Amino acid sequence: MVRLDLAAVLLAVTAVARAVTANTPAVVPGAYIVEYEDDQDSNALVNNLGGKATLRKDLRFKLFKGASIQFKDLKNADKMAAKVAAMPSIKQIFPVRRYPVPHHVVHSTGDDIQGALAKRKKDEGKDTFTTHLMTQVNKFRDAGIKGKGIKIAVIDTGTDYLHPALGGCFGPGCLVSYGTDLVGDDFNGANTPKPDSDPLDNCNGHGTHVAGIIAAQTNNPYGIVGAAEDVTLGSYRVFGCTGDVGNDILIAAYNMAYEAGSDIITASIGGPSGWNEDPWAAVVTRIVENGVPCVVSAGNDGALGIFYASTAANGRKVTAIASVDNSITPALLSNASYTINGATESFGFTVGEPGAWTDVSLPLWAVNFNTTDSANGCDPYPDSTPDLSGNIVLIRRGTCTFVQKVTNAVAKGAKYVMFYNNAVGTATVSADVEGIKGVAMVTAEQGATWIKALAGGSKVVVNMVDPATAGKFLTYFNNSATAGFLSEFTSWGPTFEVEVKPQFSTPGGMILSTYPRALGSYGVLSGTSMACPMAAAVYALLMNVRRTKDPKTLENVLSSTAHPNLFRAGGKSNGLLAPVPQQGGGLIQAWDAAHATTLLSESSLSFNDTDHFNGVQNFAITNTGKKSVIYKLSNIGAATAYTFGVDGSITPQAFPGELTADFASLAFSPNDFAIPAGQRKIVTVTATPPGGVDAKRLPVYSGYIAINGSDGSSFSLPYLGVVGSMHSAPVLDGSETLLARSRDTNNVPVPANMTFDLPPAGMVNETAYKNTTTLPKLVGTLAMGSALVRVDVVPLSNCTTVAREAGVVFGTKTIGQPDGFPSLWNARGTFERSWDGKLADGTYAPPGLYKFAVKALRIFGDAKVGSEYDAADTVPFRIRYLTAPTAAGKVRRETGEECEDGKR
Ligand SMILES: *[C@@H]1O[C@H](CO)[C@@H](O)[C@H](O)[C@H]1NC(C)=O
Ligand SMILES: *[C@@H]1O[C@H](CO)[C@@H](O)[C@H](O)[C@H]1NC(C)=O
Ligand SMILES: *[C@@H]1O[C@H](CO)[C@@H](O)[C@H](O)[C@H]1NC(C)=O
Ligand SMILES: *[C@@H]1O[C@H](CO)[C@@H](O)[C@H](O)[C@H]1NC(C)=O
Ligand SMILES: *[C@@H]1O[C@H](CO)[C@@H](O)[C@H](O)[C@H]1NC(C)=O
Ligand SMILES: *[C@@H]1O[C@H](CO)[C@@H](O)[C@H](O)[C@H]1NC(C)=O
Ligand SMILES: *[C@@H]1O[C@H](CO)[C@@H](O)[C@H](O)[C@H]1NC(C)=O
Ligand SMILES: *[C@@H]1O[C@H](CO)[C@@H](O)[C@H](O)[C@H]1NC(C)=O
Repeated sequence: MVRLDLAAVLLAVTAVARAVTANTPAVVPGAYIVEYEDDQDSNALVNNLGGKATLRKDLRFKLFKGASIQFKDLKNADKMAAKVAAMPSIKQIFPVRRYPVPHHVVHSTGDDIQGALAKRKKDEGKDTFTTHLMTQVNKFRDAGIKGKGIKIAVIDTGTDYLHPALGGCFGPGCLVSYGTDLVGDDFNGANTPKPDSDPLDNCNGHGTHVAGIIAAQTNNPYGIVGAAEDVTLGSYRVFGCTGDVGNDILIAAYNMAYEAGSDIITASIGGPSGWNEDPWAAVVTRIVENGVPCVVSAGNDGALGIFYASTAANGRKVTAIASVDNSITPALLSNASYTINGATESFGFTVGEPGAWTDVSLPLWAVNFNTTDSANGCDPYPDSTPDLSGNIVLIRRGTCTFVQKVTNAVAKGAKYVMFYNNAVGTATVSADVEGIKGVAMVTAEQGATWIKALAGGSKVVVNMVDPATAGKFLTYFNNSATAGFLSEFTSWGPTFEVEVKPQFSTPGGMILSTYPRALGSYGVLSGTSMACPMAAAVYALLMNVRRTKDPKTLENVLSSTAHPNLFRAGGKSNGLLAPVPQQGGGLIQAWDAAHATTLLSESSLSFNDTDHFNGVQNFAITNTGKKSVIYKLSNIGAATAYTFGVDGSITPQAFPGELTADFASLAFSPNDFAIPAGQRKIVTVTATPPGGVDAKRLPVYSGYIAINGSDGSSFSLPYLGVVGSMHSAPVLDGSETLLARSRDTNNVPVPANMTFDLPPAGMVNETAYKNTTTLPKLVGTLAMGSALVRVDVVPLSNCTTVAREAGVVFGTKTIGQPDGFPSLWNARGTFERSWDGKLADGTYAPPGLYKFAVKALRIFGDAKVGSEYDAADTVPFRIRYLTAPTAAGKVRRETGEECEDGKR
């Protein structure tokens, strides 16, 4: 999700491994989205630009009229963009941002099992698919309600509609009945999309997994059941086989899905933001306002803690879906065999990295026979250890790293290591140690069987198979550690403007679904990407029962009937409800939502921060039932989450952060009342934030207004607020804002007055310079999000000011901003910008001595007032320009352009 993740991780059986990298999405050089004041011909717009731009994408739709354009001359694109922005027919212009394709570790996938299908009768018995039991989806299926007549558009990597469990065809009458491919296989986010009409997914998998969660047909061997099997799917493919997507493509896809008459639009895409103003999020908001519910995955950056909402989930009225873990852990294991005393048995394994196991048939050797040894194989092996090059070394997982264990085995000649687990199921192992050819993992039980045989003096020969061709079988493990609790990867809100995110959760951790036939047909994945389509399916079921498609009505009723759960980290609970910024309203209870006769007018309340405290709010309760109901209101506090630690840090704490039992108190007027059938009542809530908390550390309190009806019904309305001032929280971390060398990935600060020899203007990517020149790199760190970051290039030598007029902005002398600044709606985290001397207006800075002055607007700050910005300067640095290369490819430094400070 902007790191638009298609946010999925193919899952190891127990480990939900996920790389966490915070970064703001990259822009496509020279590409812009323009929105028109009124409709106009996009080709005419481009023609008016005198051949300087091409049309990337015509974006003229009912709800958005504009285009994305690509300037040919990247050097002058900014100047041209400024001219376009000034045209009276143009409402706004935004850079095209890129969102990466999902982080995929293909791991647990598998083909049909021979014969298994025969054992399953189509539509047999009741729906027992665990994710359905957790969300009450099974009750719809058992009642024959499967989303018939509802169109769900999926914006993703396409769908393998030829998969037998996904209908086997594309077009009218098929399960995947509409949609298109906006990009083509080879699209990577940077090149030109090659759209075609066929949204087949045969090379990525993410969209095919998502489609199965919504509507997998039951003719599959693994018992996978789509949550709304009878819906019609639209497939809008916005990713090529690898790479990114631009927000112009996403805007087009959403509008196409809307105009195709979709009833629901789902996208498991996103990236860190925390601001609802970004153009893609704004377009999704417009679609919701026009009556189509849009669900978007909340993001997979839970590890980064609170205030890490993702776009477009963070859009106003957009429904952000969090993830809980499945109640069971499915695993598709690879089938191999072993021989003890002449008897052959089969077993399952999960291949690791490296995984060159083809036809490896070797006896096992174990360091010891202790199956409870917690640090098995962590120490170097004794001198008496034989040469292990003819064995597979069997090691128990635990204590030290896989790499350390493998390194110890390799030191004695081992080429293959088989781990056995110390927890439920298996997991993917990565141990790319020099000399190792294959690693894999088996269950604790399998490990124990082998160890027992070895201890008894038997020889155990393991006959491995190429994991790519090995038969696969499905196994389930109990998930006693995290079943039904929030997935640790699920991203936390709220937005920086204290809007409630996420809205509610569905199962997204450890989900078995369809996968492209070319990639194994079935797979187990984890991510809010897997939660989001379940929510989309539930909307379809609700539309069937409630006979309304109104986004607000449906969001409200889903939120009020959802079940909040306790917080849990590392398999342990602290007894407190998980904060609303992590779980929203809680886990969806679809049947209750479909049949509730008590309706709330809101899905959540935000009391904002102390500066903007909005502590008295109204909401309405409507009794649509046939009898008068007496309602009783009460307040149930959830854990308060401190944004900052006790150490005075200005960066929000990583997961799980500090959670406390400080609760707000709420008063209700009225508190206890009857609402006759068909009537509605306004309730006034007066909130008193928790006292005794440390406001400087921005505690985010939250909880639920519990509404219990005399008819036995119960509902909850989530709320949150912040004690302290969002505005007073520093947004720029000056200690982490520095100047480094472009080629230094460690960002070591350079000393003052270092000289950089830059390529001639516009030639930074030419062969003669690309690998040889070092640019000054600005490294900035935002402790909190900032709606506006500006960077001034400050002239420090008189010759520079002579060469070029300097202005003064907010008291800082400046010749302009580096290309790419100012930057809007920034997530928190580190940004980097290597500078080739180019300024935002397309000109190049003259040679001379400069520093960068970074200014980041505080949350709720007034952009027109200098004191509303946090500021930090880099050390001074000098730039000079190299000459164009000679015929022999040699470059030298320009002469005659240098000057001593103060002298010409
Ligand atoms: C097995 O290892 C555990 C943990 O290190 C230890 O407590 C136990 O004594 C060991 N058992 C044997 C039989 O060595
Ligand atoms: C696993 O391998 C055994 C033979 O070793 C075979 O009998 C069995 O059918 C295989 N199972 C699968 C699912 O491929
Ligand atoms: C899984 O949990 C259920 C219910 O607690 C129990 O009956 C079953 O034996 C467990 N299965 C395994 C393999 O532990
Ligand atoms: C909090 O207050 C600020 C300032 O008035 C406002 O911009 C923002 O939208 C408010 N947040 C919510 C959730 O109402
Ligand atoms: C950098 O150069 C400027 C101007 O020549 C000088 O005033 C300053 O002292 C220098 N800084 C360092 C740390 O050498
Ligand atoms: C050089 O290449 C980088 C990376 O592809 C790109 O971001 C940058 O805009 C290019 N610069 C110019 C002047 O073409
Ligand atoms: C520049 O470096 C890249 C990556 O290290 C390499 O692939 C490329 O061949 C180099 N180009 C030249 C001209 O040296
Ligand atoms: C730059 O020139 C101004 C006047 O022209 C002078 O006052 C100032 O000292 C000079 N600055 C440096 C750094 O030499």
